[in-house]
Order: sequence, then C-alpha cells, then structure tokens
Amino acid sequence: MDKKTFYITTPIYYPSDKLHIGHSYTTVAADAISRYKRLKGYDVMFLTGTDEHGQKIQRKAEEKGISPKQYVDQIVAGIRELWKLMDITNDRFIRTTDEQHEAAVQKIFKKLYDNGDIYKSEYEGMYCTPCESFWTDTQLVNGKCPDCGGEVELMKEESYFFKLSKYQDRLIKHIEENPEFIQPVSRRNEMLNNFLRPGLEDLCVSRTTFNWGIPVTFDEKHVVYVWIDALSNYITALGYSSQDDSAYRKYWPADVHLVGKEIIRFHTIIWPAMLMALGEPLPKQIYGHGWLLLDGGKMSKSKGNVVDPVILIKKYGLDAVRYFLLREVPFGSDGVFSNEALIQRINADLANDLGNLVSRTIAMISKYFDGKLPVDRIEGEFDNDLKEVVLQLPQKVEELMDKLQFSTALTEIWKAISRINKYIDETMPWVLAKSDENKPRLAAVMYNLAESLRIISILIQPFMPQTPEKIWHQLGISGMTEVLGWESTKQWGKYPQEVCVNKGDLLFPRIDIEKEMEELESINASAQKKREASQTKEKNNGSMKDKGKDKNGENEEGMITIEDFAMLDLRVVKVLEAEKVEGSDKLLKLKVEMGGETRQVVSGIAKHYTPESLVGKSLILVANLKPAKLRGIESQGMILAADSGDKLVLATLDDSIDSGAKVN
Ligand code: MSP
Repeated sequence: MDKKTFYITTPIYYPSDKLHIGHSYTTVAADAISRYKRLKGYDVMFLTGTDEHGQKIQRKAEEKGISPKQYVDQIVAGIRELWKLMDITNDRFIRTTDEQHEAAVQKIFKKLYDNGDIYKSEYEGMYCTPCESFWTDTQLVNGKCPDCGGEVELMKEESYFFKLSKYQDRLIKHIEENPEFIQPVSRRNEMLNNFLRPGLEDLCVSRTTFNWGIPVTFDEKHVVYVWIDALSNYITALGYSSQDDSAYRKYWPADVHLVGKEIIRFHTIIWPAMLMALGEPLPKQIYGHGWLLLDGGKMSKSKGNVVDPVILIKKYGLDAVRYFLLREVPFGSDGVFSNEALIQRINADLANDLGNLVSRTIAMISKYFDGKLPVDRIEGEFDNDLKEVVLQLPQKVEELMDKLQFSTALTEIWKAISRINKYIDETMPWVLAKSDENKPRLAAVMYNLAESLRIISILIQPFMPQTPEKIWHQLGISGMTEVLGWESTKQWGKYPQEVCVNKGDLLFPRIDIEKEMEELESINASAQKKREASQTKEKNNGSMKDKGKDKNGENEEGMITIEDFAMLDLRVVKVLEAEKVEGSDKLLKLKVEMGGETRQVVSGIAKHYTPESLVGKSLILVANLKPAKLRGIESQGMILAADSGDKLVLATLDDSIDSGAKVN
C-alpha cells in the first residue's frame, strides 16, 4: 500500500543579511512536525526556500553596487548554511529565481489573464516598500504602514489587477465550513471580521516602476507582484504546470502552510483566491504562529540579547536551542526571547531533569551490575504507576503534535521525566544495593529506568535531533532499529536483555548563569561595534566586503592591510557622456575614458548631479570591480564619492592629471 503523504511548507524567506533566532522559529517548528510525521510512517514533503524578487532587493543591490542576482546569491547561500547547521530536513529548497519557478509563475499569470481574472487598469495608492504592500488611506496608522510602522510612498502606475473581490463570498463560505482551514481560531476570526466581511478590493498584481521580478509574458514592461510570485512557490516547487508535475499530483493540496501571524492575510485570502481562480484545490490548513519578541520590541532591533542562531548553537548546542524555541512559548502565541530564559531552561529542563536522569541511570547500572542487567528481576511498588505514566505518553504526544502544540507536547514529556526522577527517590536504589538479597528488585528498578529512557529518547526525536542517538549509545541500544521505532514506544519491555550500557559525557552540562551572562554581554558589545563599523563601511559605499579578514575570516576591527588596499585598482577617468537611466531617479549612466579605454559606469548620483554638469570632469573609478548589471545596464566599475546625510559629493581631480593615472 502507498504511504500516506504529508506536505508541509514554511514561508519562503526574504534574503536578509543576518537571520536572527526569531527567523528560525517557523523552520524549526516545520522541521519538528516533518520529523514526527516521518517517524509515524508518512511520505513527507517539507518545502522551504527564498523569496528573492522585489523593489526592496533591487534597491539594496543598487546601494551595494552589485546586481540583484549577485546580492541574493550570497545571502541565500548563508540561509542554506544556517538550515544545515540547524539540522533542518527540508526535502526541497525553492528559490523564486529558479528558472522553473519563473516559467510556472508566468504561466499562472497568463492563465489568470486568459480566464478574465486579471485585467489591466491604473493604480494609485500608498505603498510600503519593505512590506511590498499597498494600503488604503483608512488602513494607514498615522500615515504610516500598519504592519511595520515605516514610511509609505504614493505610487501611480498602469497595472494589472486580480479580481480578488469576485472570490470574497466563496472564501467566507470555505472558511466558515472548514474550521481547520485557518488556525488558531483567533486568526480565523481576525481574517473574517477585519478583512473578508468588510469587503475585498481587487488586487494590483503587476509593477512597472522596477524590473527585478518575473516579467509578464504578454506585456514585458510589467513584472509580477512579489506576493503572487512568492505564494505560487508552494505549487511550482512541486512542478505545477511543468512537464513533470508528478510531485504536484502526489502532494497537493498541502496539509499545512506554517506562517508567522503577520503574513496570514496573504495566505488565507490572496492565496486561496488564486487557487480558486486556477481551479486547483485549497490547502488543508494555514497555521499562523506568534512572534518571538525581545523584551520591549521586535527582534531585528536587538541590542541586549545575543540573537544570532550561529553563536547560540555554538555555545549551547543545537538541541538546547531547538528545545527552547519549541518549549518556551505555546505555539500560536507571542513569547519573549531572552538569553537568561534560554540558560534557565537548559539548566532546569535539560541538565537537571533529563541529563541527570540519563547519567544517574547509566552510572547506577554500571556500578551495581557492571553495565549489564541480570534476567532475574522482581517487580515492586511504584512500578505500575511509572509504567502507566510512560506508556500513556506516546498517545498524548501524538494528539498534541497533530494539533501543532509543540510546547504542550514537550511539557507532557517533561512531566513524565519528572515522574521517572521521582521513581528513583521512591525506590531508593542506593538502599537496595546494600544487600545482595535485594539485587533482583534493584535490577527491576534499573530496567524500568532504562526502559523509560528508551521510550523518552524516541519521543524527543522530532524536537531534538542529536540527543536521542547519544542516549541510545549510553543505553547500549544504538542502531537496534527494532527497539527504536516510534510505535515501539507503545510497548513496555523492549529494552533488550543482553546489552551493556556505556558511560558517556554529560548530555547538557550546567551553565554558570552569572558568568555566562557577562560573556554574552561582551559578545553583544563587540557584535554591536562590528555592526556599526560595517554600517559606516556600507555608507561609504565600500565594496570591500570580504577583505580585511584574518585567517579565521574574522574582521580585525574593520582594519585592512596595505596588501588589501593594493588589490584595488583606482584610476583617474574623464567623463565623456552622461545620461539618466530610464525608470530610475537615482541612477546615471556615464561613458568615461581611462587612458585610451572607454568604460560604461552606472552610478547612484542622479539626485546630486545633472548629466550635463558631469561631462569633462575627472573622477576616480574603482576599475577592477567585477562588472554588475543595474537596471539591466552593465556597470564596469564604481565612481568614488563622499556622502554625509543627504549630501553627496564626487571625488574630483583637476585636469593636470591624465586619465588612466593610478590613484594610490
Ligand atoms: N517572504 C515572506 C514570505 C512569503 S511566503 C509566500 C516573508 N519572509 S520573512 O523572511 O520575513 O519571514 C519568514 C518567516 O520568519 C515568517 O514566517 C515570519 O513570521 C518568521 N519570523 C521572522 N521573525 C520572527 C520572529 N521574531 N518570531 C517568529 N517568527 C518570525 O515574510
């Protein structure tokens, strides 16, 4: 019989320079559920990826003087590294710059147009670039974006529109008839009451003011609106509308789209309406989880806490970080992240409750029985109660995992761990060990502890991918698949007779909280310094990104060596021609002469210089900068300028020096 399938997705991530621990929240949760379903025997498809188009990316790349593709490539590589470090078991990673995705989005757009669900008109409204969202005047809060609180700008453009309003009634009906469709319930009510019932307006789904996006095939000056592009990933990743759409036929509709609460609106209104228009089935569930916040605000503005997942994992281990994320906050609600809370959890739950239990059990079996338990065992008081608690656990965990209640599932597991610890206090093995007569009873107590740990170690696998194997090694059952399957947790007595335990390292060493907080503070202070240094560097339009690093790749307080500097080929150039770049109010295209050679350079100086004023000027060019495309125009180098606040002045030279001369 074919296995049952389970398709789960995370949102696709915006390429952001530095992902913080909050970003990993959705992905770690999706990974836990994927691991759980695989353990239960499902054929799982777990999709994640990156959302790489849009004006915001284009602007960032322009600021850095590189092409958008170059910009996203380096960041996406970092995101993939992070997921590897976090042991994320995604089956597929989609990039919206993948050719197959782009082609499929073009087909989707065309199909919607051909069916009359997309039409051409003109848009005028307030637009928030960071959120890539249009807002009506009534939606703005004090004239600012209601989502991020940032500035909005007036945009007027010829656009294509999607007939979202046409699907309003069908959407309401679907949501009302399928209580599981939007979870948790509070988000469902919010969507119905705040967005759907007041009425939907048609959605502007193309842009002409920038070009870093997927072109509309039948009207090439338009690019597809990023959310239409991004949401489509959930089906294009499965080969929808491509030659081989077998994965689509196998896995769609998705079982769960896991998303943060701020993007639930896109997933529960625009996405289902698009699918209705395409005539495709709707996902079974969209789950909007809460945010991990820092005391007093959003994580991106972090100052007081170390929120870099790489540092946290290096210091405390992956499983501790994953455990914290999934345990600390009930899934669905907002919660506060702090380094102190993380360390307290590590000390209390991991070092004390679980870690100690394992090391005590192994130490006692080694001491009293030389590592191997005898067959001769006598059951006694407390045993039945212990078994009952441990054996009831798998079903509780399953019920909670099926409802994505990670935190409660872990709470139940830790309740059982407490019960097991209490069993040691009740049975007092150290007293039993005093007389040989009690050996069979002592053996039973030890067996019950080992067996309880076998069951616990299997159940924590979805959350903590590394610890179970360490426990199995210590229990002497590593690789014994017949006693390590998920279903084997429902049966008592599978811990094998013939094995020998192995003493191992502490699973979670206790952390000295005061010392640790001091260390974290100093890490934070130096990270802050680095951030400031790199901001200044970026402001100065420095493209020295990877230079100035010592052998370990560390930046020595932003310093570079004379050899680093010598790598720059700075040359005097004379401007021959200058003109504005169409569609951009920032960029000028220059033709410059450099010792007999001509170069084309695109420079972000249009707000400060008219094209005419530049002709004949002697400027400084970074001549060995890798060429990059800005707005589709190749730039062969970068012109040096100084900027301060809104002011920008080009570095100019007088005419007494020939073009082509080297600047040192
Ligand atoms: N690109 C869009 C999604 C398009 S899906 C078709 C996007 N990307 S994102 O990078 O901003 O966010 C990715 C995920 O990270 C979202 O689920 C978001 O909620 C989550 N988080 C980012 N910061 C977070 C916290 N501080 N806490 C919890 N999750 C947060 O949105």
